[in-house]
Amino acid sequence: MHTPAELLRKAHAAREHAYAPYSRFTVGAALLTEGGDVITGANVENASYGLTMCAERSALFAAVSQGYRSFEAIAIAGAPDAVVTPCGACRQALAEFGDDLRIIREGRAEVVLRDLIPEAFGPEHLERTGV
Ligand code: THU
Repeated sequence: MHTPAELLRKAHAAREHAYAPYSRFTVGAALLTEGGDVITGANVENASYGLTMCAERSALFAAVSQGYRSFEAIAIAGAPDAVVTPCGACRQALAEFGDDLRIIREGRAEVVLRDLIPEAFGPEHLERTGV
């Protein structure tokens, strides 16, 4: 069992590995797979700024690279005084694998991904065109 509190604790642990020398805004994410494994990620910045990778996509891409395709929840954690919520790019990337993903943030009610990105463009839209 992974409670929201446990997932947030894992997200905070992942945040310790964040590489954010430019923004100093460190973020960690813990992605719960359908089978109960937890894959974590942290934000990784770059001197060319635009190459920065968010914690959520770091976790997602690590998980997908390890063969996971189905996810239940993602916990996202920042510094104690920071408000962290997934950026638009992360919402889209996560939605690729299902918009019923539970989003766990500190001090906010749990929501599902489709609340944050309604009518997301997804694989089903490509299927309809036959491409
Ligand atoms: N960031 C994340 O990793 N996740 C979020 O949900 C919000 C923003 C990162 C990207 C960048 O390294 C820093 O936070 C400031 O935007």
